Amino acid sequence: MKIRLPLPALICVLVALPVLPVRADEPETELGEHMEKMSGPFRRLRRQASDASKNANSLAQIAIIREHLEAALTLEPVMKEDIPAAKQAKFVADYKKKMREMIELIGKVEAAIKANDNEKALMLVGDVSKAQKQNHKNFKRKDK
Ligand code: HEM
Repeated sequence: MKIRLPLPALICVLVALPVLPVRADEPETELGEHMEKMSGPFRRLRRQASDASKNANSLAQIAIIREHLEAALTLEPVMKEDIPAAKQAKFVADYKKKMREMIELIGKVEAAIKANDNEKALMLVGDVSKAQKQNHKNFKRKDK
């Protein structure tokens, strides 16, 4: 079946497109963009951390993750805007502390992979997942 749209309706759709809100699953902040870019590499790392034959590739994923964590360390969560002004400095300091801890943890995963200790790497990747969930609970704006 062919769907025909009258020309004025088509023009309205085309004019409205650039002002339509971004899709809910697309990052809206610079920090969100960095998070999004390390999401795939982290999924790959989680899948292959136990597989010593993939260690070279795992190190490449870790390098990407680290790059985005370092960038995230220079930014602030948008959730800061939702909390009282008097509490914002502590909120940002806590966020940066947790981000530094995550960078350290990723360094431990890297060391385990370099030592070909994949059992340990797998365990540490589990710790990364847990920390990620906890940090999102504390620092990520709740979806409205
Ligand atoms: C492997 C580790 C992590 C992964 C894979 C990850 C992944 C993600 C993803 C996919 C998003 C949604 C992005 C969007 O669509 O906007 C996000 C958002 C966010 N994440 Fe992470 N994350 C990780 C670690 C962390 C850590 C350690 C923190 C804090 C210390 C953190 C804080 C946040 C915040 C605050 C947002 C919301 C963005 C904003 O406020 O602008 N994440 N993360």
